[in-house]
Amino acid sequence: MEVTRDRAWETLTRYTASEALRRHALAVEASVRSYARRGGEDEQLWGAVALLHDFDYEIHPTLDRHPQDGAPILREEGYPEELVEAVLSHAEHLGLPRDTPLKRTLFACDELSGFVHACGLVRPTGLDGLTPKSVRKKLKQPSFAAGVHRDEVYAGAELLGLELDEHVANVIAALQPIAPQLGLRTAADAA
Ligand SMILES: [Fe+2]
Ligand SMILES: [Fe+2]
Repeated sequence: MEVTRDRAWETLTRYTASEALRRHALAVEASVRSYARRGGEDEQLWGAVALLHDFDYEIHPTLDRHPQDGAPILREEGYPEELVEAVLSHAEHLGLPRDTPLKRTLFACDELSGFVHACGLVRPTGLDGLTPKSVRKKLKQPSFAAGVHRDEVYAGAELLGLELDEHVANVIAALQPIAPQLGLRTAADAA
């Protein structure tokens, strides 16, 4: 099958009704796609992996099932093994090697996209004017977006060989164009 965005979105939304989960998928997609573009990689494939990485979370909300029990569903849907393996590799508890740029990028964007999204939600101008420095400060407040694993955020930047600030700036820039889909205000709303 040809992996297209439409196909991936259709699969995601068939298994995922939660708006928060759909937004998480969109945020990770935007971040991963921006790295694909930057690196001249297959944006369609990378974007589909990002959209689908948590597609089964709603039906398998526990780590003894997510994402491993989602994998056979993706295979049945006809997705290529490269996509399925990349999806599986995002899960820390499976301990799979992150041996491709796609796997490293997915891991690096997963928690951080969620965190930057959370930062934007509490600001009147959303992501506009949000700096890596203020994101870093918030990372040090354990009570803010407490579900985001800080160690995975730091490990992700390192895995990409980037300074944390650079990675954060890239993710902010990637999410800005889809702010409305993420439920974020913008500077224009605040004006
Ligand atoms: Fe996940
Ligand atoms: Fe995720």
